[in-house]
Amino acid sequence: MTPAELARAIPKAELHIHIEGSLEPELIFALAKRNGVVLPYASVEALRAAYAFTDLQSFLDIYYAGASVLLKEADFYDMAWAYFERAKADNVVHTELFFDPQTHTTRGVPMATVIQGLSRACLDAKEKLGVSALLILCFLRHLSEDDAIATLEAALPYREHFIGVGLDSSELGHPPEKFERVFARCRELGLKLVAHAGEEGPPEYMWQAIDLLKVHRIDHGVACLQDPLLMAELAHTRLPLTVCPLSNLKLCVVNDLRDHPLKKMLDAGLCVTVNSDDPAYFGGYMNTNFVQTTEALGLSRDEVITLARNSFEAAFIDADRRQVLM
Ligand code: HPA
Ligand code: ZN
Repeated sequence: MTPAELARAIPKAELHIHIEGSLEPELIFALAKRNGVVLPYASVEALRAAYAFTDLQSFLDIYYAGASVLLKEADFYDMAWAYFERAKADNVVHTELFFDPQTHTTRGVPMATVIQGLSRACLDAKEKLGVSALLILCFLRHLSEDDAIATLEAALPYREHFIGVGLDSSELGHPPEKFERVFARCRELGLKLVAHAGEEGPPEYMWQAIDLLKVHRIDHGVACLQDPLLMAELAHTRLPLTVCPLSNLKLCVVNDLRDHPLKKMLDAGLCVTVNSDDPAYFGGYMNTNFVQTTEALGLSRDEVITLARNSFEAAFIDADRRQVLM
């Protein structure tokens, strides 16, 4: 079996997937029709043709527009179910989904609609596909910390449906320190903590996520290559980094997959994992990321196995399950 074939076949966890980023253009159009939403694109092809991004913000503008078709609980369920079927096909056995409630509540969609639709899909994923799925509520960092606190309060009646909180959206100009209070409150509540940092932002944002937010994982984190002290710290603590190679390529964080720092991060002993981020927008789901990265970087079979094991080491699963999977 070649390393790429192994990457395809090996059981794995996906830990960095924005469920709104799994909305394929076909589903966006189907939901728009079902809900009577008028889209600013004439066709699926016209929408897909707009997927030419120059940076994170150019993507986020289209990503938030795509999410505008989500209105009813069934819409959230259908979106997540479509993702779970693809995850299953890629031998993903466990997944942790980010969702962005503020993208929906600011349009008048109730928090209950969002969480109950996603949660019901998670239950069915386990029951019907054998894929375990957890939810992570993300705060939009371009909005205020007060807005994040209000979002947390609105979500607390559904506390049993999500395992943790994250921080996403426009990174530059919105450092982790802006969210220190809300993360402290989430820590008191026993929630798992993650944050996007070091995607477009500097290593300093990763230090803030570690020291001020006290995160259990960092999402992306590719900027750590610029800071040898940070590399040493991450190797020592094995604080996981959920890396998204095709996202980095599509958002021009790297110019060529062959230049992606994932192998250097592995060589340095970091707990890095491979993930799809926003698969409907960035050209592929888990196995497309895993296979293309394996081929572009010439990863060995052992490195592929390490990446899969890292995904279970980094997952928010209990020790018994981790032992079985690793
Ligand atoms: N970065 C930040 N915010 C996001 C992303 C991302 O890659 N995808 C969806 N929201
Ligand atoms: Zn992301």
